[in-house]
Amino acid sequence: MIPKTFQDRVVAPSLLAADFSRVRDEVTRAISAGADWMHLDVMDGHFVDNISFGPAMVQTVHETNDIFLDVHLMISRPDHFLPRFVAAGADLITVHVEAEHDVAETLRRIRESGCQAGLALNPATPFEAAIPYLSQIDLLLCMTVVPGFGGQAFMAEVLPKISAAAAYRAEHGLSYHIEVDGGIVTETAARCAEAGANVMVAGSSTFKAPDMAAAVLEIRKA
Ligand code: DX5
Ligand code: ZN
Repeated sequence: MIPKTFQDRVVAPSLLAADFSRVRDEVTRAISAGADWMHLDVMDGHFVDNISFGPAMVQTVHETNDIFLDVHLMISRPDHFLPRFVAAGADLITVHVEAEHDVAETLRRIRESGCQAGLALNPATPFEAAIPYLSQIDLLLCMTVVPGFGGQAFMAEVLPKISAAAAYRAEHGLSYHIEVDGGIVTETAARCAEAGANVMVAGSSTFKAPDMAAAVLEIRKA
């Protein structure tokens, strides 16, 4: 698998919107539909107001196929749980700047483990909060909904943050992906891409589409 750069469009269906009674088939369906990465949303019921799944699910997906696993940790103590997600087969691990940990140290440990490192910002968190860490990351996730649930409406007020992240990257010769997550459909993907995002996480609009391959292609071309 050739690693993606920030100049590549990446479509990452979120497993949260899949049918959990047949996870392996759902991942196979996403791959057949043209998914580049699988986005796995881990929620602890504390950092966000929902509980999803943990390392066992990541491992199940990992054992099913070799698609790139983009693991989004919406948990209060990513530093504590990190080794379990590495062992489960994550390729990229994203932690929130708002969580309770030494962010620089967690990012350092993610890379040391052989995974790529991502940093996530909630919609209310300014781009400036990420600046101290940008040389340590492979991906910056700008949440386009308040995390916790799939199927929410896209928050257009996040677009200037995406533009700021892209401008900063160009000015400083950095190469992190810019990922967006929440309310991504063809139209919002186009607006995010225009602002500088290249990794499109899409749950409802892919897994729940009548034709998943068409939905993935539309988001890729948007
Ligand atoms: C939100 C999650 C998202 C979510 C996206 O808390 O981080 O990844 O699954 O779902 P959609 O695409 O349905 O908004
Ligand atoms: Zn997510």
